[in-house]
Amino acid sequence: MKKILCIGAGYVGGPTMAVLADHCKDYQITVVDISEERIASWNSDNLPIYEPGLDEVVKRVRGRNLFFSTDISGGLQEADIVFVAINTPTKTFGEGAGRGADLQYWEQTARSIFQHATKPEVIVVEKSTLPVRAATAMARILHVGNPTTHFEVVSNPEFLAEGTAIRDLENPDRVLVGGRDNESGRKACEQIADLYAHWVPREKILLTNVWSSELSKLFANAMLAQRISSINSITALCEKTGADISEVSKAIGMDQRIGPNFLQASIGFGGSCFRKDILHLAYLCEHYHLPEVAKYWESVVKMNEYQINRFFKNILANQFNTMAYKKITIFGFAFKPDTGDTRDSPALPICQKLLAEQARICVHDPKALENAKKDLAHFKGDISYEEDPYKAVEGAHSIAVITHWRDYRELDYQRIFDLMEKPAFIFDGRNCLDHQSLFEIGFNVFPLGKPHLTHFK
Ligand code: NAD
Ligand code: UGA
Repeated sequence: MKKILCIGAGYVGGPTMAVLADHCKDYQITVVDISEERIASWNSDNLPIYEPGLDEVVKRVRGRNLFFSTDISGGLQEADIVFVAINTPTKTFGEGAGRGADLQYWEQTARSIFQHATKPEVIVVEKSTLPVRAATAMARILHVGNPTTHFEVVSNPEFLAEGTAIRDLENPDRVLVGGRDNESGRKACEQIADLYAHWVPREKILLTNVWSSELSKLFANAMLAQRISSINSITALCEKTGADISEVSKAIGMDQRIGPNFLQASIGFGGSCFRKDILHLAYLCEHYHLPEVAKYWESVVKMNEYQINRFFKNILANQFNTMAYKKITIFGFAFKPDTGDTRDSPALPICQKLLAEQARICVHDPKALENAKKDLAHFKGDISYEEDPYKAVEGAHSIAVITHWRDYRELDYQRIFDLMEKPAFIFDGRNCLDHQSLFEIGFNVFPLGKPHLTHFK
């Protein structure tokens, strides 16, 4: 039985290896992490991340051919294939601070693989999202001369989205495997492709060179984010002209060349990757002396910041330019529904700005309250957390919808209106509520890219 080790038991490492173990019973897979707490949680009934369908898969495979451990060196000694799914954050210091990738953990991992691996042939798989040519750095460290092991570095980026991770892993649009263009590189790519071929049709498994694979991952995220920034930029114009963003989005999405996905106007994209990956892409362009290309992609991030700020200013302007001591209920803190992940969620800057206006904030989220508490722990001000949405709105002057959890569409808004101060305001940062019926109940309604519905003369 061949042994796979995955370093990094996060949002990617955990679900990816669980699905791999489910389909590849002929492999023994161990997921390791430096965080003892995370590993203990993966070994418990209370998994460290919320992801629909994940519990069932983990229950099926854990202890059968999937194991979670903190013994990184022990795992490396036995591994034939090492997936690396550690986080690749943005640098916060020195050259490239705030833009380039911080590769210190990446390099430490490479050194650790070099030091502990013992099998004659080991394939190292880049699962994390990395700047183009990161595989070179990994290969250089691995090739300084381990007498017992030949290492081959392969890029196999992950395209899963949170909230739909299991579905995406079960039925991916494509699997990308990039390797060196020589016999050993091709053999390693075939081995990784064979793993996926246990359940993914061969025609969906794409073999490329390493650099194309690394770049395709960064670029895919940049393109997705660019669509969101594009539609969000038009919400501002809709509000000035009387056009309706839902109608515009539908009209352009019916053009087969454009397509309907990722045209949902929003308060702005969040999540741990879009902003990070675009900034890494832009920094890479600068590194290769392509400043115009760098600026082009940076504008996608700037538009996102503009949209978040615009949403906040709208809240302030429409509540008579003062939020001091007013209660605002935040509906949703996760960066998207069906996840408890709050990394880079627009909720954080919105709350920060509201607290600076001395607003009283009450946060509700079906799955992300614990993370919200951690994120807001360092901020001063009147902040409370509520598990019951009806309690959350008691005495509130306004509601800001930040995450389009399905639950929010199904609430009793007459009851909510009755519990709130008047005039009552709703700012729908996801255009997910029924605005006309809210207006008829008595709310002043502020959607994105659509006419405001107010009771003021
Ligand atoms: P994460 O923070 O959830 O998990 C990373 C894990 O790696 C953490 O548990 C951390 O403790 C561990 N780790 C860090 N350094 C380590 C080391 N030296 N040894 C052992 N463990 C170590 O991150 P994530 O969201 O899973 O993302 C991982 C990578 O995958 C990133 O490059 C990200 O860009 C990419 N990615 C993420 C997603 C997503 O939806 N989150 C999707 C596709 C790709
Ligand atoms: C995204 C990509 O979709 C994945 O393919 C990729 O693997 C992943 O990043 C990654 O590399 O980390 P994720 O961030 O989990 O996945 O979620 P998305 O569904 O892409 O949503 C990202 C953000 O964009 C969310 O805040 C979401 O609400 C927002 N969004 C999405 C919109 O505002 N409008 C849309 O039409 C779609």
